[in-house]
Amino acid sequence: MLLVSGGNGNLARSVIANLLRMTDPGNILVTTRDPQSDNARQLAAQGVTVRHADFDAPETLGPAFAGATRALLISTYADNSERLRQNLAGLEAVKAAGVEHVLYTSFLGAGPDALPEHTQLVHWPTEQAIVASGLSYTILRHALYAEIIVGDLDETLATGVLARSLGEKPCTYIARDDLGLSAATVLAGSGRENRVLNETMERSYTGDEVAEALSRCFGKPVRYERIAAEDWPAYMTEKWGMPPSLSASTVGTMRAIEAGEFDLVSDDYRKVTGRSPLSLDEFLEGVKAARG
Ligand SMILES: NC(=O)c1ccc[n+]([C@@H]2O[C@H](COP(=O)([O-])OP(=O)(O)OC[C@H]3O[C@@H](n4cnc5c(N)ncnc54)[C@H](OP(=O)(O)O)[C@@H]3O)[C@@H](O)[C@H]2O)c1
Repeated sequence: MLLVSGGNGNLARSVIANLLRMTDPGNILVTTRDPQSDNARQLAAQGVTVRHADFDAPETLGPAFAGATRALLISTYADNSERLRQNLAGLEAVKAAGVEHVLYTSFLGAGPDALPEHTQLVHWPTEQAIVASGLSYTILRHALYAEIIVGDLDETLATGVLARSLGEKPCTYIARDDLGLSAATVLAGSGRENRVLNETMERSYTGDEVAEALSRCFGKPVRYERIAAEDWPAYMTEKWGMPPSLSASTVGTMRAIEAGEFDLVSDDYRKVTGRSPLSLDEFLEGVKAARG
């Protein structure tokens, strides 16, 4: 069975929706902390196996992962030490379950010196543990979600200001639903070669270019206004309601953007899916259509 962890999350939902187009629901095993959610119950009603699993309760993982042959471990969202502990518990359980191929959602630029704290302290050590595990693997290094651009779209359009900490260097993004397709494609495949994929749009964009794309799409003037990386966490907490414990660690991500660490464009997405990922303009058109 094809295992997707964290089944109620946004990325997981997209992966599962794509899997349901690729394989029989009976081949899909979804784990979640809340199997009674509407989403989980709907999946179960469609014939997907849904089980309770919580990386913070390792005793739940063995029974939940039993029967999985290929597994996508979706990284969680917590403080860094907790996230790493959760990832390692998930990996341990995947190995114990006899899974043949593991997939993990990492972040672009993962390495020991990566500027984003969560990349250095969570994704990179998780990648290292996967490589050392002896399992075959696909590491999915995701670019920044394009959704980050539209997290406060109403305010951006109302004020005509895209307030971001983007520096002068271009940065690449990718739509979360595109990542759902690529993860499902690898998961539903049979390949067991070890791969590290950089999943990005086909070009990168400066803050000014992102603002221009917003103006073009929504027919309103939008300009980019720089927020210093150090001030970005407070902005996220105030405007997006992100708890300070999580927003604090976004400083490193902003510094990485300013340093040009995300000016990295790859064609890995096309190689895996046979399609181009959405461009920024196409992504924004989709957002506009969904707003009605
Ligand atoms: N590339 C980027 O720009 C970017 C941006 C934001 C986040 N991310 C990362 O990508 C991941 C997926 O993004 P998303 O938008 O789907 O996030 P999301 O909707 O917030 O989902 C969070 C995920 O974490 C799982 N989770 C949380 N605590 C868990 C635990 N104790 N045990 C097992 N699973 C747990 C949830 O599963 P259940 O609720 O079903 O248990 C859910 O799948 C995030 O968790 C984060 O690591 C990347």
